[in-house]
Amino acid sequence: MPPGTIWRIGVEAMDPSRNRKTFLSERVSVLVGDITEQDVDAIVNAANSTLLGGGGVDGAIHSRGGREIRQACEEIRRTRFPKGLPAGEAVITAAGRLPARYVIHTVGPICRPGREPDGRMLALCYRNSLALAAERELRSIAFPAISTGAFGYPPEQAAPVVSETIQSFLSQKTSLERVLLVFYEPSDMTLFLKNQRFTAP
Ligand code: APR
Repeated sequence: MPPGTIWRIGVEAMDPSRNRKTFLSERVSVLVGDITEQDVDAIVNAANSTLLGGGGVDGAIHSRGGREIRQACEEIRRTRFPKGLPAGEAVITAAGRLPARYVIHTVGPICRPGREPDGRMLALCYRNSLALAAERELRSIAFPAISTGAFGYPPEQAAPVVSETIQSFLSQKTSLERVLLVFYEPSDMTLFLKNQRFTAP
C-alpha cells in the first residue's frame, strides 16, 4: 500500500504509512508524536496557571522553545493575569525555536482522586484554544492530551469531551483546516480512539 493511501473504516480513515487516523473528512488527525515537533501554525501547551513552565508538555515546550516563550509568558502575567491564568482560559505567544509559529497556553482542570472530572472546564480549554487560533486566521493547530497527565483527568473520560468539542467547533465557519491530536504513547492514542465520539460529517 503506497504511503499516504487512506483506508476508510466507518467514520475514521487509517493511513498505515504514518500511523495516523483521520476524522471529519481528514480535517482531524490523531497520531503518536511529540507536540514540540509539530510543524503547524500553533501548538497548544498544557500549562499551569503560573505560565512559568513545569514538567510534561509544559517542560518540553519551554525547554525546546527557549527563553522567548518564557519572556512572553512573564509579560502576559504582568499585564493581563497578575494572579495567574485561570483554568479554561487560553493565551497565545510566539514559539521561539519550535517549528510551530505560535504556542497557545491553556490550563486544564485538575482532577482529584475520587472526584468527578470537570468536563465543562476541559471543553473550555479546547474551545478557547481553537477560538484564539481562528481569531488569528490560523489554519492548523496541534493539541496534546490536556489534563490527562499530571492533572489526573481520566483519558477515557476526556476522549468524548475532546472529540465532541472539536467537532462542534469545526461545524461552524473557521479558518482552521487541520486539527492534530498528538499522543505521546501509542496506548494513549488507542484509548482515545476507543472512546472518541466523532461522527461522520
Ligand atoms: N508531546 C506530546 N504529549 C506529551 C509530551 C510531549 N512532548 N509530554 C507529555 N505528553 C503527554 C502526557 O503523556 C499526557 O498524556 O501529554 C499529556 C498531558 O500531560 P502533562 O504534560 O502532565 O499535562 P497536564 O496533565 O495537563 O498537567 C499539567 O503538569 O507539566 C505540568 O506545568 C504543567 O502544572 C502543569 C501540569
